[in-house]
Amino acid sequence: MPDRASGAAPLWGGRFHEAPTGDFARFGASLEVDKRLWPFDIAGSKAHATMLAAKGIISSEDAEAIRRGLDEVAEEIAAGEFGFDASVDEDIHMAIERRLTELIGPAGGRLHTARSRNDQVALDTRLFAKDAAASLAAALKGLMRTLLARAKEGSDVILPGYTHLQPAQPVLLAHHLLAYFWMFARDLTRVEAARQAADASPLGAAALAGTTYPIDRRMTAEALGLSRVIPNSLDAVSDRDFALDLIYASSVVMAHLSRLCEELVLWSSAEFGFVTMDDAHSTGSSIMPQKKNPDFAELVRGKTGRVYGDLMGLLTTLKGIPLAYDKDLQEDKEPLFDAVDTATASVSVVAGMVATMDVHADRMALAAGEGLMAATDLADYLVGKGLPFREAHRVVGSLVAWCVEEGKALDELTLEELREFSELFDADVLSWVEIRNVVARRRSEGGTAPEAIAAQIKLAEEAL
Ligand code: ARG
Repeated sequence: MPDRASGAAPLWGGRFHEAPTGDFARFGASLEVDKRLWPFDIAGSKAHATMLAAKGIISSEDAEAIRRGLDEVAEEIAAGEFGFDASVDEDIHMAIERRLTELIGPAGGRLHTARSRNDQVALDTRLFAKDAAASLAAALKGLMRTLLARAKEGSDVILPGYTHLQPAQPVLLAHHLLAYFWMFARDLTRVEAARQAADASPLGAAALAGTTYPIDRRMTAEALGLSRVIPNSLDAVSDRDFALDLIYASSVVMAHLSRLCEELVLWSSAEFGFVTMDDAHSTGSSIMPQKKNPDFAELVRGKTGRVYGDLMGLLTTLKGIPLAYDKDLQEDKEPLFDAVDTATASVSVVAGMVATMDVHADRMALAAGEGLMAATDLADYLVGKGLPFREAHRVVGSLVAWCVEEGKALDELTLEELREFSELFDADVLSWVEIRNVVARRRSEGGTAPEAIAAQIKLAEEAL
């Protein structure tokens, strides 16, 4: 019986009398989302055609025609001249194959031998993920370099260190910035692990069970720069762990960016006044002329929620779907693209903000000096004079209570006032509580003293 499907028929037209149209076609299609996979789809098809010819499955003339046709398709897409046809192009794989066959005739129809869209989409998404992981890693390295450069500049700037957002002990600005450096260094290892997870070829799964054709899976893997083939054809078409890995890595990047951005929002407030964000990274108000808002920091903080949503979304999509490919898997790309695009753009924006912000060392120093942050050191001083630490803690505690009542800072106290609380205080205590000395005494490995910071900067340089 002749083909009874009316109008343009999809690739599987032979079995069908009718194709989805209108809302149904739109609902099932993924073209608008997966269009951007085209360079990977072209590369995968060229490698597949070359392998088919090498194994004698198609002729080398056909393989040559396919490769040339695919190059032409690529040029059309790159130039924005490709005529996507929403009525038949359900996804990018079908669009490219349709156009190829229009351009080169029957040879185009041989490309899909020993292959399925299930293999193709898994391959394209893996190649995309590898590429995207490399871009995210490059952006992270840029941010790490920026943090390190600003840390070096800030190696004699002191600011309060906080716990519970209460002033705790003074630290160097370099120390604070380097804490973020190490977060992003860990992100880099997570992104690299995700890149490695993607680095395997599903080609040759041929929908799910392998193929009767004498294919060479290693040949296509190697041609595409993939370091291994996936050992199980069912797993090859249904595994999206690599996408989860990259979304997870992106989520942790966002968690770190969000913490940094929250600090930039606080620091740029009138109350802190520790930094002024560059005009280019701030916006004004349409009604309040005095306003300068750290919008970009807030936006990154806000986008974090969306990226976490991407992770939960894909985790939930993957839950409970039977082997092997199910159409549910088409829902993998939106969260993957969104997460990695958002993380990569956010990293670059934050690097720009950190690079250009003005640091107000005077405000930081004032905040570090005006409080009671030398209290731990005052107790340590008494311990040095022989008092047990618990007793020293109690003495300094009542001294602090008195300072709070009197509205005094520790480094303003006179020796006489100090000796009201303990006879063990001598004249050297006055310089002991100076904030610069408080910082300089924290020489332990990973601590905030200038020489410990110099060692940490060396480690950070090595890490880069
Ligand atoms: N557009 C599909 C996706 O993204 C491609 C694979 C379709 N395979 C299938 N058997 N329907 O998952």
